[in-house]
Amino acid sequence: MKDVIPTKKQKFIWGSKNIDLKNPKVIFITGASSGIGASLANYYARPGTTLILWGRSSDKLTKVKISCQQKGAIVATREVDLVNTDQALLDLESYLSVHQFDIAILAAGSGDIKNDHEKLESTDTFKKLAMLNYVTPCAMANRIAMQMIEKKRGHIVLIGSVAAFHSLPFATAYSSSKAGLTRFADCLRLALKRYGVKVTLITPGFVDTPMSQRLDCSKPFLMSVSKAVKKISAAINHNKDHVIMPLPFSILKWIDNHAPKRIRDYILLNLKVKQDHPKD
Ligand SMILES: NC(=O)c1ccc[n+]([C@@H]2O[C@H](COP(=O)([O-])OP(=O)(O)OC[C@H]3O[C@@H](n4cnc5c(N)ncnc54)[C@H](OP(=O)(O)O)[C@@H]3O)[C@@H](O)[C@H]2O)c1
Repeated sequence: MKDVIPTKKQKFIWGSKNIDLKNPKVIFITGASSGIGASLANYYARPGTTLILWGRSSDKLTKVKISCQQKGAIVATREVDLVNTDQALLDLESYLSVHQFDIAILAAGSGDIKNDHEKLESTDTFKKLAMLNYVTPCAMANRIAMQMIEKKRGHIVLIGSVAAFHSLPFATAYSSSKAGLTRFADCLRLALKRYGVKVTLITPGFVDTPMSQRLDCSKPFLMSVSKAVKKISAAINHNKDHVIMPLPFSILKWIDNHAPKRIRDYILLNLKVKQDHPKD
């Protein structure tokens, strides 16, 4: 494809600027069966909007579908296990052949905390979280971006985690997979800049969803899911590159980067986090 660099004047017409981000027509969401993804689906559900919602659990997905339909949206759902990247990309292809996404929100993800009796997380956990939190969303975002480049418009939203900023010894797979996603988001944002396609990275701290409810630890600055959705939709509307929410986690990131290594290591080694429920 020929590179076409927009002039200053064109930049205001091109790309995400020519989508009404407050009233997008086609929105694709992964992780739409629960928590942040489900709440974003409900937030965007309205007449004139098509929602393409992916999740794993058919029951939970159906509930979200019904509530979005009741708000007047057209809804298509699909059960997909995103640990299987090749299958996810095949499924994605069938939607891209029919739809042009205005906004793609890749929210699906999962965490894992090693048990006290485990020295490390299992190799299987590592493989699973690497695929789910890093490989699949990056590969899907890359494919979606190709379509958006062709049309010179679109907005890709990736949901990372503040765990990406800290080397968590009890959640090495989660922390490192989200770190990979964080770096990818910035690479993609820069790569797409000249084509008028926007990338926003959302980096949440603790949000009150089933994922954080599984954790048995103090959850500083815990945010309600409705507040998280407000912040995420505002970040999309205002074409933000990166939002860390809530703000105190930006300060913790700064401290992690600047504290003397011995102090930083001591704090990280003494964090106490447990997981309540069995891992899925
Ligand atoms: N909640 C927090 O405190 C927090 C903090 C930082 C970052 N995040 C990030 O926010 C995103 C959304 O999490 P959440 O808080 O909304 O958690 P959640 O309520 O547990 O939702 C997670 C979503 O991901 C889907 N998912 C999990 N494994 C999957 C798989 N193998 N294949 C396909 N879909 C899968 C789930 O599908 P099913 O429910 O159908 O299985 C669900 O829709 C995640 O990327 C998470 O890492 C959350």
